[in-house]
Amino acid sequence: MNPNSILYIFLSWLLSMCYGFVLLSSAAGQISDLNLFEAGSSSTYKLQSEVLINEKDNSSKNVGFYVVAEVTVNSIWGKGKDKILQIELTQPLLHIKSRKAPSPDGFVPHKSNLDKMQNKPFLVILKNNKVDRLLMPKNEPLSMVNLKKGLASLLQFQIYEGETKEIDSSGECLAQYTANSDDMFTKTKSNCVSIDLPYTYNPDDILKTMVQSSRISEYHLDLHKNVIKSIKSKESHKMFLSVKEDIGNFVEADQHLILIREGQISTIEGQNIEEALEKLISLHSIVYTQESLMSDRETDGEDATFSDLVNELRDNLKSEAIGTLKSARSFIKLINIGRTSNKKDIQKALASKKNKDLLLQLYDILGFIQSQDSHEAVMKNLIFDDEKMLDFSERYLWALSICSKPNPDIIMDLLKRFQKNNNIPEKIKETMILSIASMAYRLSQLHGNKVKVLKDVEEAIINNLDYAKGEEKYQFFRALKNLKSPNTIPKLLDVIEKGTPKEGVLSWKIIKSLPKEYWGENVLKTAKKTFFQLNKRHDSSSRTIAAELMLETNITEQNLKGMLHYLGSNDTAFEIKQYVYQNIRMKADECPIFKRMVLNIIKSDRFLNNYSTLAPRGMSTALSRNFLSSDSSNGSLVSLQELKSGIVKRGSVNIVMEKNDAIKEIFSLGLFSGGLSSFMSSNGNENELEDEESANAGMELSVLGTQLRPFLFFSGQGELMGHVWSGTASEKTPAYQANTLLQDHLEYIRLGNGLIAELNVKGALSFDLSGSVKISIFYSTAESLVEKAAGIAVIGTTKIDTSFVKSQVEFSASIEPKLILNSDLDFSGKPTACMRLTQPDSLLTHNIFKIERIPGSKHKLRIAKYKKTNIPGVTYSLNRKNNEMCSAMFK
Ligand SMILES: *[C@@H]1O[C@H](CO)[C@@H](O)[C@H](O)[C@H]1NC(C)=O
Ligand SMILES: *[C@@H]1O[C@H](CO)[C@@H](O)[C@H](O)[C@H]1NC(C)=O
Ligand SMILES: *[C@@H]1O[C@H](CO)[C@@H](O)[C@H](O)[C@H]1NC(C)=O
Ligand SMILES: *[C@@H]1O[C@H](CO)[C@@H](O)[C@H](O)[C@H]1NC(C)=O
Ligand SMILES: *[C@@H]1O[C@H](CO)[C@@H](O)[C@H](O)[C@H]1NC(C)=O
Repeated sequence: MNPNSILYIFLSWLLSMCYGFVLLSSAAGQISDLNLFEAGSSSTYKLQSEVLINEKDNSSKNVGFYVVAEVTVNSIWGKGKDKILQIELTQPLLHIKSRKAPSPDGFVPHKSNLDKMQNKPFLVILKNNKVDRLLMPKNEPLSMVNLKKGLASLLQFQIYEGETKEIDSSGECLAQYTANSDDMFTKTKSNCVSIDLPYTYNPDDILKTMVQSSRISEYHLDLHKNVIKSIKSKESHKMFLSVKEDIGNFVEADQHLILIREGQISTIEGQNIEEALEKLISLHSIVYTQESLMSDRETDGEDATFSDLVNELRDNLKSEAIGTLKSARSFIKLINIGRTSNKKDIQKALASKKNKDLLLQLYDILGFIQSQDSHEAVMKNLIFDDEKMLDFSERYLWALSICSKPNPDIIMDLLKRFQKNNNIPEKIKETMILSIASMAYRLSQLHGNKVKVLKDVEEAIINNLDYAKGEEKYQFFRALKNLKSPNTIPKLLDVIEKGTPKEGVLSWKIIKSLPKEYWGENVLKTAKKTFFQLNKRHDSSSRTIAAELMLETNITEQNLKGMLHYLGSNDTAFEIKQYVYQNIRMKADECPIFKRMVLNIIKSDRFLNNYSTLAPRGMSTALSRNFLSSDSSNGSLVSLQELKSGIVKRGSVNIVMEKNDAIKEIFSLGLFSGGLSSFMSSNGNENELEDEESANAGMELSVLGTQLRPFLFFSGQGELMGHVWSGTASEKTPAYQANTLLQDHLEYIRLGNGLIAELNVKGALSFDLSGSVKISIFYSTAESLVEKAAGIAVIGTTKIDTSFVKSQVEFSASIEPKLILNSDLDFSGKPTACMRLTQPDSLLTHNIFKIERIPGSKHKLRIAKYKKTNIPGVTYSLNRKNNEMCSAMFK
């Protein structure tokens, strides 16, 4: 071998390396050899574009279709890196799944609207080798235009490695290019956004809907012939519930282009793109419209209107249906339609005499629709000044406040009405400010806490708080609890220091409801001062909340030791001691690290290491019981009862969902009483701050973190006596009924093939809480019953609608859980209380429907799958003390 040939081999090796290198990582300028779409070249490909949809795990029979066609790419003009491609999509033909197919689950060709659509060649303008714009023949149906955009998007690529923002049929994405070999590279798209399409989501960790997408295209080149041999594009989108990840849908869309022929065509003249285009247009006399690569949404406009749908679903919307599944399902249907309905149509439903008995439910729905149109329609009918409209006003305001998609214009409108209108009755006014606060908080969850509305609302509440006198202040504290703004912490700490004991309790409740990360040094210092009463005496509830707060952060060994010593002290605030003791036990059951710390402190301390020291008297309880555990989330019931003189001073039963570190209180039922000590035999001389309030008792609900206006059972002594003697509260009465939206997701995903997938998930909770209280002074007993019935339905659809085929997969999951809390109290001697918490059997159903239709044809494919799971009922064992008292009471 002579040196020359060695040199030659070396050079050609180097060259091929470089070639590879060019593809791999070189700057754009050097790709002189590779000139794809050379002017005058013509390449013909076979296109197959397939869409399959299925349930999340893609394990059962899917539905779907594909379109095949021949595609000819003619490069009719070119200068450097600028080109004009004329592309022809020949005879696109729909194939669908059919039993008649030769292979099981195979595809057969089927007639469709696609066959008759106008379909002329279109132009792709490349500038600097990237697709700049499309010129589509005028008046082609949208489905056809979208398919063409999907096809043209395959030509949106670059042949050097790197990451870049790119627009194509998937929207605006981050495109990552990597080389697999000299002649092959992949384009991976991520973070695709389509800001022009509607998008609704619930930001909550547990209630959110997860969407996982993957998009990858593989390009295979023929380097010698300067041509693309094939493009294989694959993408998939999984949508599922965060709270239960096995429930969801799956869609995949693949496009495959394979070279079948090459040829030559004649080109047109022109110094630049514009000149060439002018020539071309005068030559062919086709009228074009300029388009981007992004496809457009097809709407078929055959949806029923809101008012029609209300007519259809009327029976499911009646009050009697609340707490059931059919109520939840109808609620979802109406929200889906109502979000795009106009004011006039909504007003028609509100005004109809036939809907008189459903108005409360309609206001629920309209609160969750929360569009400008729906709000204007409601404001035509609802008069906040009118006391008679209290129930309607509150249902509307509650729904607005719980919706995860608050409308800033509606917040501002309500705030204006709140501040300007002095004729609004007190109760509605309180509900208004509570709702405004909650809406502002939810808005900050979506758009960060810089939004102006949030600042306006915060200022308004603080101003009102500063001007209010005495008990009028309380509602603004509650509003701050809904606002959850960390900016208010310094002010609250000041109130704890200087305000009345009751104001201190309200402030602690607000701080406790803020996410832990906002509890800084100052909060923890104040918590310590409050619990140990280092600066002054505090209300017992302030002390117990402060203790909970200390226990929920990484409590120092020293503080925990102080707390344990307090439990062993001779202080007579038995209920506080018992409550804290129970909280420590509950925490120790949940967290092994904490448990070890407690045991170490006790073991190493002679005083504490004595059983009798740490078993305080008192009937307060704190406990947590699991009612659900799955891979995706855990659910528990947390019951906290702080007693005073034998009756509940501050009690709550909370339904809490947890996922990894996120905790969500779905529902909380709180009971409170105050100023009642003088009615009860004071059991031991409790060393506590005396109530300064007049007698009161009531119930406090919070739904998805939004506190509602408290319901008073009575206030003032006269009313209490009346109630007790006449027994009006002993009938079971509904306390709170409403429909609530849990999951709320709507997203349009632009598929690479030019079609658009609609992903819609709505979860509804139809809720009925009722209760009764019986108090007998004669026998000195009290009995209460609280019953919660709920219908929960989640419906998720993934659908692809075109004018030639419609495919959809839908999951629906539902359950009707019930919870019954009985409590019996006997205060004839030493007070004893027995609480029983039971959950009857329930049934979880999970159904899947897959449907495919071809418009204008009889073809309809439907696959259904039904799953049912029994969830056996349980009676929760609360704690030993309670069990002992129950068996003593019912012996
Ligand atoms: C989903 O299932 C279909 C049919 O069994 C299969 O062809 C396809 O490759 C699967 N997709 C994925 C991403 O696993
Ligand atoms: C609290 O303690 C846990 C476990 O010891 C630790 O992982 C975590 O970082 C601590 N958190 C803070 C805020 O100190
Ligand atoms: C509690 O004990 C302390 C000493 O530990 C004593 O000074 C105080 O008087 C006692 N208080 C009561 C109420 O017994
Ligand atoms: C435990 O405490 C009780 C009451 O204070 C006392 O009588 C007893 O001696 C203590 N036991 C121990 C082991 O210290
Ligand atoms: C549910 O609880 C169990 C036991 O505490 C825990 O191991 C698991 O990680 C939790 N699951 C989730 C999704 O948080």
